Amino acid sequence: MSDAIDIKKGLAGVYADTTKISKVMEETNSLTYRGYPVQELAALCKFEEVAYLIWHGELPMREQLMHFERQEREHRWIGDDLIEVMRKFRKTAHPMDTLRTAVSFLGVQDPETEDNSPKANLEKSIKMMARIPTIVAADYRLRNGKEPIKPDPKLGFAENFFHMCFGEVPAPEVVKCFDVSLTLYAEHSFNASTFTSRVIASTTSDIYSAVVGGIGALKGPLHGGANEAVMHMMLEVDDPKKAEAWLLGNIADKRLVMGFGHRVYKHGDSRVPTMKKAFLEMAKIKNGQKWVEMYEILERTMLAKKNIHPNLDFPTGPAYYLMGFDIPMFTPIFVMSRITGWTAHVMEQNEDNKLIRPLAAYDGSAQRKVLPVAER
Ligand code: ACO
Repeated sequence: MSDAIDIKKGLAGVYADTTKISKVMEETNSLTYRGYPVQELAALCKFEEVAYLIWHGELPMREQLMHFERQEREHRWIGDDLIEVMRKFRKTAHPMDTLRTAVSFLGVQDPETEDNSPKANLEKSIKMMARIPTIVAADYRLRNGKEPIKPDPKLGFAENFFHMCFGEVPAPEVVKCFDVSLTLYAEHSFNASTFTSRVIASTTSDIYSAVVGGIGALKGPLHGGANEAVMHMMLEVDDPKKAEAWLLGNIADKRLVMGFGHRVYKHGDSRVPTMKKAFLEMAKIKNGQKWVEMYEILERTMLAKKNIHPNLDFPTGPAYYLMGFDIPMFTPIFVMSRITGWTAHVMEQNEDNKLIRPLAAYDGSAQRKVLPVAER
């Protein structure tokens, strides 16, 4: 391979395009959606407003929000056909696999799938935002031998998800912590899953295909799957008194510590302080002091020994656990939110599309002659 070729492994540090959707600022550990700091959005807006902002570029006025909420609530039910398909899923399949298949089914059923106009794609995005929580909740109930609960159009997006999972809505403080996590997970520029969606969109494929691809990329524990891995890790540690020794052993064995490190943020993830606050609130409500102690020890030790900061998945994992969600639902919940970012990027890609097709420097065998099978 030629030394002259400058290969950027993992596309690290490569600018592949421009975007108006979000700005990740490594220098100041900050993140804005359409110019608004994510911390302010988490404090002052509900997720529905953030979804509107990501798609439309502006926060909704009261009337616009009411119209948008009505649309989202109308589209929530996924239909009996899909429920029947989901009944056939292997009960031990990972919920990211069942979600990937169910979203693909939505694309099969939608007569507008092939319409790539901005209007049709926005409508399909709203439908996916409305229906993905229903899929995640129905899948959770079916795998636990329970019947799905129909969405309640009187409830907001976050409240309705609790209702469809557990048949009840928890205290407003719990719903707010969940809603904050959705806002923080909604969008993050050219992360691996969003880039996957943009690559698919760049071939002028359909928006369902782009989302299905995004789900596949998000599943991996180096990306969205880390929120589940964090909780498995905390359960393995089990006791805060064992946390430091466990971490030192992990570092000595050169094993990854899940929920730490980030490709872009090397001095701290902009979203962590807001989500940590929500996690602490959850721990107060649910008597989860043990997890807070463990969190603090792991964070302190990782910083002292490796100078690596936690990422958003570190506080989100235990927060979702305290909310009562099964661990394999954590990454599907991430999808419930990131669907907004993925689809906004698909629409942005379509506005000014160029096929994404990088080069590879060939590093294999020199050219050779094919021999017929009898002579090999
Ligand atoms: N645990 C232990 N060591 C780590 C970790 C970690 N979590 N993260 C980075 N490092 C080390 C690497 O081993 C490497 O060490 P070396 O230079 O001695 O080889 C050094 O820090 C630099 O790390 P890179 O691997 O070069 O960082 P990269 O940008 O490629 O990876 C990634 C980023 C994939 C997120 C990585 O930090 C990681 O695997 N973290 C754990 C998984 C995780 O939490 N992912 C969630 C990401 S956030 C999100 O998707 C919402």
